[in-house]
Amino acid sequence: MSIVVANWKMNGNVFLVKQFVHRLNEIEAISKIIVCPPAALLGNFENFKHFIGAQNCFYEESGAFTGENSPKLLKELGCGYVLLGHSERRAIFHESDEMICQKWRAAVKQSLQPIICVGEKLEERGNWKDVLGHQLKNYVGHCDQNDTIFAYEPVWSIGTGIVPSASELGAVVSFLKEKLPRSALLYGGSVNAKNAGEIMGIKGVDGVLVGGASLQIDEFENIIKMVS
Ligand code: PGA
Repeated sequence: MSIVVANWKMNGNVFLVKQFVHRLNEIEAISKIIVCPPAALLGNFENFKHFIGAQNCFYEESGAFTGENSPKLLKELGCGYVLLGHSERRAIFHESDEMICQKWRAAVKQSLQPIICVGEKLEERGNWKDVLGHQLKNYVGHCDQNDTIFAYEPVWSIGTGIVPSASELGAVVSFLKEKLPRSALLYGGSVNAKNAGEIMGIKGVDGVLVGGASLQIDEFENIIKMVS
């Protein structure tokens, strides 16, 4: 089953959630739709027919960690998924591969399915194999990969309108599929209704992770149609 993940950034609000819940509930999608809003909006998805996920979690189950949310709390709020290691978390909040792996373990323990994001920066573009290999070293061969979804998000593509060519993406996807043969693999970075069809046509791509375009309801619905 193909997968469409919406990664709402802070531009989302309660009004938008209500509109979204209403519109997406009317869709008979063949794809699995997972909406990941900021944690403050998670309580607004009552009667949502699809799935919700968090954008981050902490690795401890409980304790004095002001501002953090444990996988257990997110699960209680109805989350089935959690994004981990998004490039914005890595760059702005200095999350290391080790910390992301700790979060991955904590999420799996609570049956919260992690969506691990990996991707190279612009200056690492010529060296993507090493970068991705490094980011994945804690998972390859060390986990039941069925539990985990991976998302390839080249950092230079996020929010820029630039997407890799079909042949570039095809090469990365076959590299990742070789390492993680049992995991679903998403592509993320400037996905829109125009390019979603071509991206889904690349062998090994199981779905898309959509940032900016997921906040525009019509555009997001069109992406779902292209992916289904
Ligand atoms: P974008 O964001 O679709 O706006 O490029 C993707 C993401 O941040 O996951």
